[in-house]
Amino acid sequence: MMENLDNSILNAPLIKVSPPGPKSLQILKQQEEYETSAINYPKYFKIAVDRAQGSTIVDVDGNVYIDMVTGISVINLGHNNPYVKSAVEEQLNKVWHTLEVPTEIRTNFSKKLLSTLDFKAKLLFTTTGADAVEAGVKIARWITGKKTIISFEGSYHGITAGTLGFTGANKYREFQEFFDNRVVKFPYPYPYRCPFKDCLNDVLSLIEYALSNPGYLGNDVAGILVEPIQGEGGYVIPPKGFLKGLREIADKYGILLIVDEVQTGMGRTGKMWAYQWEGIKPDIVCISKAVGEGIPLSMVAFRHDLDKLPTGFHLGTYRGNPLGLAAGLASLEFIEKYDILSRVQRLGNKILKELSTRISNQHVGDIRGLGFMIGIELVSDGKSPWSEGTKKVIDESLKRGLLVYKAGRWDNVIRLMPPLTIPESLLDESLKILQETLNDL
Ligand SMILES: Cc1ncc(COP(=O)(O)O)c(C=O)c1O
Repeated sequence: MMENLDNSILNAPLIKVSPPGPKSLQILKQQEEYETSAINYPKYFKIAVDRAQGSTIVDVDGNVYIDMVTGISVINLGHNNPYVKSAVEEQLNKVWHTLEVPTEIRTNFSKKLLSTLDFKAKLLFTTTGADAVEAGVKIARWITGKKTIISFEGSYHGITAGTLGFTGANKYREFQEFFDNRVVKFPYPYPYRCPFKDCLNDVLSLIEYALSNPGYLGNDVAGILVEPIQGEGGYVIPPKGFLKGLREIADKYGILLIVDEVQTGMGRTGKMWAYQWEGIKPDIVCISKAVGEGIPLSMVAFRHDLDKLPTGFHLGTYRGNPLGLAAGLASLEFIEKYDILSRVQRLGNKILKELSTRISNQHVGDIRGLGFMIGIELVSDGKSPWSEGTKKVIDESLKRGLLVYKAGRWDNVIRLMPPLTIPESLLDESLKILQETLNDL
């Protein structure tokens, strides 16, 4: 295997001037003047980016950071991954936009992506993660002729009017919600904060009770929409058997299982798709984020035999952009060529072990993860969610040259989503910084 899988700046981090430096400050001020006050991320990362290489980002003041945010699980193979870049460059010289009129890159990508699923599927291209979720739900409703969707508390499926209805976390829904959307939300099995006796079976029984009771959900359920691991919800890993249980319930009641792999997919958990950890076959899979490695690309993969969709069932000008498809095909090839999945499994276990042994602070309530999807839940006074803590960790880490971000129903989970290609030396350095920051809390 290649020694260095990405072109990171290996002496990172390098802090020349405490962030935000003067040039960053100037650009941040301009952004504030030109853009809405609704912008989110610059309020956490007070820097302006000059360029990025592999697992490192350089700000306009010359500071070099190790990136454990990856644009929220998008840059899975490192910024400017040379293999992906040359595929995109090749496509740039051919054609950039063709609607759905096929190109070689489109069919090659489709064949490759479909070969990574464990069931015979077809693709419907979309433009964003939320669009993929909306299309997945639309397919379930169209095929079954039913309307209700089961989703989960704490979930995040996007911010469009439609997906806000399925998103369980209230904090995203307070701004707008599409009300004419039949959704019933159930608790997500959250082992660290489970109010039930049996976190897995009690949740499954509750769903089954609702489905078997004609006065509750009756016979109107089209689909169960679920994240295999909750992303924005706080990197919540359900007990083993959750997806299997949902699969059994879906089969029993003639419901389609829609798995939202927008954040968990493309190798992030150490399998190409997180549902593969449970050995199940979904009916519909929603895919986005890392599939385009930063070039917008998204799609729904759904059971081949469900393809009874009429012409123009789902539209969108930019669906299946050739540059994104080139990046997507190259990413799939790269993951296979360099056995990235084994690497993520091996190093993911190492990260968890190191964090658990090195970090000792009353504010660290839970450390959990699968592959390169690691969450550190911060608490105060026992188990109360501590959101101020995550803000402190993000700020302190930034000052020390490490980018980390938060998640969670209460914004109290530090989440680590490094590139799957991060050099081990940078991973060790990041863990050292995190250890210092967390132990200093
Ligand atoms: C699980 C999941 N589904 C859907 C989405 C929405 O994707 P997008 O922001 O591209 O609309 C996200 C985004 O974070 C996500 O994590």
